[in-house]
Amino acid sequence: MELNSRAIGLLMGLSVAVITTAFLYLVPTISDVALFIAFGLSFSSTYILVRFVLEFLFFRHINKIYESLENIDKEGLEVIQKPRRSSVNPLKRINKEIEGYVENKQREIEELKRMEIFRREFMADVSHELKTPIFAAQGFVHTLLDGAMEDKKVRTKFLKKAAKSLDGLDMLVHDLLTLSHIETGEIKMHMEYFNLNELISEVVDQFETKASKKDISLTVIAEDKPIFVHADYQRIYQVLLNLVSNAIKYTKSEGLVEISFEEVGEQVKIAIRDNGKGIPEEDINRIFERFYRVDKSRSKEKGGTGLGLAIVKHILEGHNSKVEVASVYREGSIFTFKLAKGIEVERNPVLEDEY
Ligand SMILES: Nc1ncnc2c1ncn2[C@@H]1O[C@H](COP(=O)(O)OP(=O)(O)OP(=O)(O)O)[C@@H](O)[C@H]1O
Ligand SMILES: [Mg+2]
Repeated sequence: MELNSRAIGLLMGLSVAVITTAFLYLVPTISDVALFIAFGLSFSSTYILVRFVLEFLFFRHINKIYESLENIDKEGLEVIQKPRRSSVNPLKRINKEIEGYVENKQREIEELKRMEIFRREFMADVSHELKTPIFAAQGFVHTLLDGAMEDKKVRTKFLKKAAKSLDGLDMLVHDLLTLSHIETGEIKMHMEYFNLNELISEVVDQFETKASKKDISLTVIAEDKPIFVHADYQRIYQVLLNLVSNAIKYTKSEGLVEISFEEVGEQVKIAIRDNGKGIPEEDINRIFERFYRVDKSRSKEKGGTGLGLAIVKHILEGHNSKVEVASVYREGSIFTFKLAKGIEVERNPVLEDEY
């Protein structure tokens, strides 16, 4: 006979009823009817009690544990439901622990799946980005070898084009290496105190010609006093180059690009604002991903690889900071980040180069 709650209930009920009736039988004055009633009552109450205890406090939880284990076997980990409240019942606790363990494993699996998708996309993007300039340069060189070399004018034109493609390739590899070095921690931030005004005027010098070619007014808004920060000079220079270059690149001619910085408590807030194309809402959270470009065709013609903002994000993370963006499509964008305020010191670039 299968030992389920009903069988155990019957056995226990019968035993208790027999023992109780046997004891009562020893009482000389007790009638047969009373003995019969006592037997019936003790049997039914024990039966109900035992079945209740087994069904609700014991078997139900064991069955739930088996169900969980069966589900793991059959359908994977997703089907496991979250544990509800904590309980003193050890069976409930075991069940809860299994569910908790399964939940953790589920999270780990999801993370691995996400990373795998990311890895595959990344490999596809890298191959695509490498292929484009290599094929272009290859085409020009083969055309030259196939006879175009004889014509001096064509030769120079094709060689220039091949060189441009290879320069792009060099930039791409350089950016990829920078990203991977920052990620693996091979590039340590070289923190120092420096005057932000100095760095910003270097950035402005870099872009003045480019901006004026597009008739873009490039202005700096800041208080007329040195503002010191504690950061990696070269890396923050790289951050600003990327942000200002984007602002100019994605702003129509006769637009405005404005760099501003101000002290906010123990930090210095830096903002790069433009009144350019802006970024559609659905893309705003993705522009910091490697190779992500809002409009692939638009950016292609502008020659970007989509790595600039990923580098910016990583460098700022290395400074325990983060870049934020607010943008209105077709109206403009503003990128901001904060750096720790520094103390006033004389910067010594010669010393720094030794690192
Ligand atoms: N100031 C901006 N205004 C409008 N769109 C922007 C701006 N900055 C970035 N974007 C959008 O975000 C995308 C990602 O920028 P990111 O700097 O990473 O790449 P990129 O400029 O295309 O190429 P790279 O910087 O590697 O040369 C850009 O392609 C562009 O669509
Ligand atoms: Mg860029």
